[in-house]
Amino acid sequence: MTGSTGGRITGWGAHLPEKVITNEDLAQTLDTNHDWIVERTGIHRRHIGGSTSEMSIHAGQQALDSAGVTGDDIDLVIVATTTPDQLMPGTSAAVQAELAIAGGACDMQAVCSGFSYGLVAANGLLATGLERILVIGADALGERVDWDDRSSAILFGDGAGAVVIERSDTPTLLGFDLGADGSLRHIGYADHGGFITMDGKEVFRAAVRAVTSSANKAMANAGVTIADIDWFVPHQANIRIIESIAGRLGLPMEQAIVTIAETANNSAATIPIALDTAVRDGRIAPGDLLLLGGFGFGMTWASAVLRWDPR
Ligand code: UT7
Repeated sequence: MTGSTGGRITGWGAHLPEKVITNEDLAQTLDTNHDWIVERTGIHRRHIGGSTSEMSIHAGQQALDSAGVTGDDIDLVIVATTTPDQLMPGTSAAVQAELAIAGGACDMQAVCSGFSYGLVAANGLLATGLERILVIGADALGERVDWDDRSSAILFGDGAGAVVIERSDTPTLLGFDLGADGSLRHIGYADHGGFITMDGKEVFRAAVRAVTSSANKAMANAGVTIADIDWFVPHQANIRIIESIAGRLGLPMEQAIVTIAETANNSAATIPIALDTAVRDGRIAPGDLLLLGGFGFGMTWASAVLRWDPR
């Protein structure tokens, strides 16, 4: 499933809860240590504590402010999350009310790939007539982690990132690839009321395979090669996964945006937080070509090639 349409990101924002849990904190109750966690994952800290709606509202408000618009100007809010505040209604309902969004509201569940799925879906909806969409990736994985299980407690955190995307005559989504292999549902899941259970090694292997192949399809679809890409904005699950994918794509790690040391894996939030970080610190500049690439339980994956043109 590939294609290209005409939307342009004009605003961005991110939010991490104040409470920080360091590797040293975890080592006080678990049989683990800072060096192992850093060497095997790249993670130093994780932020824990917000509800998905609270974090979405903070990040969403920032994105609206940075685009210079209000909720009144938004035709739809999409909240990509795997940790909705409630089974029903969708978390997007709370966001719609709090940000006074004039248009519709819906949630999207593709786990860690959710934000990129939302971005591609938003582009399609802009092509059919909507003017402006707020896409949020937000997750509170701290609630789904067994803090007594060292294999998963070290990996996850909470956070939210958001973008405003507007209809534009100049397409900036040059190509994308969305995919899934539901026969791999067993390698990572959480049941209702349960904790995250995963086969870490299998997720690692499948992720590297899926993202590499998907990124190549998205670049082919966009008519570009890895040499054209200025920045790779990957899902932040494990620094070694990012390094393996970059190596297979032939992309120097200096061109990968890495925020995992601070954020850990906060699922649908990692890509928009990485994007927000690199735009605010000046690495991503107008005209740059971005490759977004991620994967999530399901298994799902999504890649997008974007021209950064916030104007
Ligand atoms: O969005 C998707 C979310 N999930 C993922 O992305 C998970 C992807 N997988 C991973 O990130 C990695 O597989 C892990 C970080 C989960 C594990 O890293 P690994 O390099 O695959 O380690 P391992 O499971 O092969 O374990 C190596 C050793 C084992 O000890 P022995 O058998 O060699 O003596 C483990 O028992 O490290 C031990 N170990 C730990 N030691 C200290 C496992 N977890 C820990 C720990 N602290 N937290």
